[in-house]
Amino acid sequence: MASSTLELSGLNFNLTEEQQAVREAARDFARTELLPGVIERDNAAKFPTEQVRRMGELGFLGMMVSPDYGGGGMDTVSYVIAMEEISKVDASCSVIMSVNNSLVCWGLEEFGSEQQKQKYLTRLATGEVIGAFCLSEPEAGSDATSQHTTAIDKGDHYLLNGTKNWITNGGSAGVYLVIAQTDLEKKHRGINCLIVEKGQDGFAVGKKEDKMGIRASDTHSLMFTDVKVPKENRIGDDGFGFKFAMSTLNGGRIGIAAQALGIAAGAYERALTYSQERQAFGKKIFDHQAIQFKLAEMATKIEAARLLVYKAARLKDEHNDFVQAAAMAKLFASEVAMWATTEAVQIHGGYGYVKEYHVERFMRDAKITQIYEGTSEIQKLVIARELVK
Ligand code: CAA
Repeated sequence: MASSTLELSGLNFNLTEEQQAVREAARDFARTELLPGVIERDNAAKFPTEQVRRMGELGFLGMMVSPDYGGGGMDTVSYVIAMEEISKVDASCSVIMSVNNSLVCWGLEEFGSEQQKQKYLTRLATGEVIGAFCLSEPEAGSDATSQHTTAIDKGDHYLLNGTKNWITNGGSAGVYLVIAQTDLEKKHRGINCLIVEKGQDGFAVGKKEDKMGIRASDTHSLMFTDVKVPKENRIGDDGFGFKFAMSTLNGGRIGIAAQALGIAAGAYERALTYSQERQAFGKKIFDHQAIQFKLAEMATKIEAARLLVYKAARLKDEHNDFVQAAAMAKLFASEVAMWATTEAVQIHGGYGYVKEYHVERFMRDAKITQIYEGTSEIQKLVIARELVK
């Protein structure tokens, strides 16, 4: 690994001692416990069971959750710091972490009832179980209001029917937040979010996707056939489900932006190290201006992405409107990740195209950051709408 780590040098973000300690802890964990075996897990698409158990033990699965519910009580800045460090090594582990922290735990703590928090949040925050966020469907990806999954009101319970697609943690989760349409006439205001547990009658985990990247995380379709979900498992008031999903995704996008930043930084660090070791035409390739220019541009764009990610996290921590900042951070960081990882492969030449040097995995992992939790096109739409608000 390179010695240069691009830590927002020059701009004083006044990281607290705790935030700096989080960076050290996450970096140390990633290097000692995630790096060994990361290539093999990616090759075999093997879920990192032991690594996720350790993430729970070390507090990385419920970082922002109040200690009252077993969490770390930390701020979003600490969370993005940890996400970046873990993503520099293993983006499969960091997506599992991101979904659990920002889409499941955060949403439950912010909008769930006390009973729901007691029953589910503590187990999720400590990693006793992990969670999944189930919004996408075969015919509802970007167009998230077009829910075909139905939750019909049956008095004391809902009857849930439908299929969800591309669900992160789909097979490994124990708790699922499922978005479904209760009242079609009310459109998005007739959508609910229900908490479903694995093993409930009528709930089946479908096929595991064979993915381009983040291969060690498990992504599944889910089928619900007449699943009875008690009314007390609805999050918020009747019809709050779409607002819940959108509000939760606003914060989730900061997590994915931090993941993209980490993937880009991880690839950059490896390219910088390699450029100082590899010789061509009688000197280190770093001493060729063509390579220097690539690294300079990578370092600049990564630093810019980091500033956007930290800005969005800080706005959220200060309870300011962060919708546009989160979308900008995700849009920019994911584009930088795709570009920087491609450059890292190029700097490595033939070695970059084989698995041993890690950068081809970073390049495959980067692609999904432009797609999930809102594609780059959706982020532009969100940013544009905020411009004229
Ligand atoms: N925050 C809060 N509320 C929001 C919001 C936001 N960012 N965006 C929209 N809303 C609210 C609106 O205020 C509106 O509510 P009211 O009518 O009550 O005022 C309601 O949601 C509907 O909004 P629109 O009329 O703007 O709906 P639309 O259909 O035109 O556009 C969209 C909505 C922004 C395109 C939305 O569908 C969207 O974000 N799509 C992308 C979905 C997405 O990100 N999916 C990711 C899947 S999850 C995942 O990937 C997890 C994983 O496993 C890693």
